[in-house]
Amino acid sequence: MLKGKKIVLGITGSIAAYKSCLIIRLLKKAGAEVQVVITPAGKEFITPITLSALSQNPVISDFFAQRDGTWHSHVALGLWADAMLIAPATACTIGKMAHGIADNMLLTTYLSMKAPVFIAPAMDLDMMAHPATEDNLRLLRERGVGVIEAQSGFLASTLEGKGRMEEPENIVQQLSDYFARKEGDLSGKKILITAGPTYEKLDPVRFIGNYSSGKMGYALAEECASRGAQVVLVSGPTALATKSALIERISVESAQEMHDASIREFPGCQAAILCAAVADFTPQNTAEEKIKREGNALHLDLRPTPDIAATLGQMKREGQVMAGFALETCNEAAHAREKLERKKLDFIVLNSLRDEGAGFRTDTNKVTMIDGKGEEALPLMSKQETAMHIVDKLAGLL
Ligand code: C5P
Repeated sequence: MLKGKKIVLGITGSIAAYKSCLIIRLLKKAGAEVQVVITPAGKEFITPITLSALSQNPVISDFFAQRDGTWHSHVALGLWADAMLIAPATACTIGKMAHGIADNMLLTTYLSMKAPVFIAPAMDLDMMAHPATEDNLRLLRERGVGVIEAQSGFLASTLEGKGRMEEPENIVQQLSDYFARKEGDLSGKKILITAGPTYEKLDPVRFIGNYSSGKMGYALAEECASRGAQVVLVSGPTALATKSALIERISVESAQEMHDASIREFPGCQAAILCAAVADFTPQNTAEEKIKREGNALHLDLRPTPDIAATLGQMKREGQVMAGFALETCNEAAHAREKLERKKLDFIVLNSLRDEGAGFRTDTNKVTMIDGKGEEALPLMSKQETAMHIVDKLAGLL
C-alpha cells in the first residue's frame, strides 16, 4: 500500500528520534519515497547524515540550503507529499502545530501541507498527561490530524506506556492502513456481517431479548462498504438505518432466522464478522395466545439456539476469514481465547463490561483484538473508529 507513496517524515527533538531510522527503513522497504524534515532540536538527537543516507534524499532542516542559499520550499513539499508523518512529535511541536506557530521548516511544512498529517507523540508521562498537551492533541484531532499513540497491553494500566512513542512497525502499519482505506482495499470482496440483538418469541406480544443496539455491527458494515466491499448485513431488530448503497440488509428476528440467513449467505462471501448479540436460549414453545397472568410463578422451558459462529466455523473454506466478538464480565482474555479456537475464528474482538464506555448501547467502545499470535488493546474510541481498526485487521488477512 505504501509503494510509490511520497512521505514527508518530520523529526523533532526527542530521545525517540533514533527510532526514525527504523521508520525510514520500513517506509523504504515498502517502496515509499521519503523526504525528511528535521527541527533544530531534532538534529541534537540524530545526525542528518544518517537520515539522508537511509532516506536517499538530502535532509531539510533550514529555510535555506546553507551552502548556496537555495530556498527550500515548504509549499512545494506540501504539494508533493501523499502524507506527512511527524515521528517523534514532541510536546513543543504538538503545541506549535495546534497554535499555528511556524518558527521552523517542519512547522511551515505542516502549515502548507495538503496531504493528511499523522503524528506519533513522544514525551514523558507527566508532559503527556498535562492539560495543555491534552488540549493541543484534541485540537489537532479535531482538525483531522491522525494521532498514533502507543497501545498498552491488555488490562495493563492505562498510564503504562503513555507518552512513549508507538513502535516504528505499528506507525508504518497505520500509515499503510490509511492508504489501504483510501484506495478501497476491499473492493471486489463480499462480507457477511451479523448485527444487533435477537428476539426470541414467548407469545404474540413478548420476547426474550438483550440490550444490543446494533451500533457496532452497523459501523462495521459502513466501514467495509466505504472501502469498496459489498456487504450482507444480517440484522436483528434495531432502530438503525444503513447509509451505503453497497449494504444489503436482511432483517431477521430470532437466532434461528439469523442462523438460516447467515449459512445461506456465507458461501458467497470472502469474510464474515459475527457481531450480533445472539440469544443463547429460546423458549421451547411459543404460546399461540398471550400468556395469562395466572398463578404465583411462570416457568419457562428454554432450549439452546444454534451457535452461528461455530456453524460458520465448520463451513469455512480455505481463504475465508472470520472475526467474532466476545462480551465478557470475568476472565475476559481466557474466555475470548477459548471462543477463538472453538468457533474457528481468525480473530476475536473482546469487550469487557468492566470498561466504562464499552459494550451495549454506547457510541464508544474499548476493545482488544485477539488472534493466535497475540493481542492488541485499542483505547476508548467511537464505534466508527473501532470499526476502522477491526476492518484494517480483517483486510490484512484477506
Ligand atoms: O459464545 P458467545 O455468545 O460469547 O460468542 C460470541 C460470538 O459468537 C459473537 O461473535 C457472536 O456474534 C457469536 N454467536 C453466534 N451465535 C450464537 C452465539 C454467539 O454467532 N448463538
